[in-house]
Amino acid sequence: MTFIIAIDGPAAAGKGTLSRLLAEYYGFHHLDTGLTYRATAKALLDAGLPLDDEAVAERTALKVELGGLDRRVLSRHEIGEAASKIAVMPSVRRALVEAQRRFSLKAPGTVLDGRDIGTVVCPQAPVKLYVTASAEVRAKRRHDEIVAGGGNADYAAVFADVKTRDDRDMGRADSPLKPADDAHLLDTSEMSIEAAFQAAKTIVDAAMNKE
Ligand code: DC
Repeated sequence: MTFIIAIDGPAAAGKGTLSRLLAEYYGFHHLDTGLTYRATAKALLDAGLPLDDEAVAERTALKVELGGLDRRVLSRHEIGEAASKIAVMPSVRRALVEAQRRFSLKAPGTVLDGRDIGTVVCPQAPVKLYVTASAEVRAKRRHDEIVAGGGNADYAAVFADVKTRDDRDMGRADSPLKPADDAHLLDTSEMSIEAAFQAAKTIVDAAMNKE
């Protein structure tokens, strides 16, 4: 049976890095589900199609290939903004969730990270982590990342952006971001990535021993 690790949390909480480390450590396949929303948004933007036509967005979502998703290509701010707009559309979510569920069944195991993995995509996952950090810490990490990459960033603008993204992710009617009832909460505000990885590994190992 495939072992599924479901990881949810707000933007810039560290779930991407943690998911990659866990997938590498256990030899599992990893899917960053945010990239499926971003790829759909990019395809619409590239084709000059509207972001507010649900039928067009659904058709585009159905064509997204999970194999070639690359965060470097999809990380642009406008793509993230567009992604969070189409992520409120139920038929877009249905199309992408379907593809994500198929991915989650790959042997020997998978790590999926996003906003609704433990609540909607893989509610049967034996391990659910809800990775979070204060909005201030998340904004600082995002800001430092941009600066380290040679970019220009204003902390106040990045902070405002984190808050807007949170409101949109947590406030939408379909599959809002929230911890599953049986999720383990991991607040990384004062944790290094190594400490977060060790904490997650302890939780995963315990669940594997129960299977
Ligand atoms: O994590 P990210 O910034 O790459 O996500 C892009 C957008 O997609 C974000 O606004 C939330 C949305 N998303 C979602 O609704 N459900 C997921 N499972 C993953 C991302």
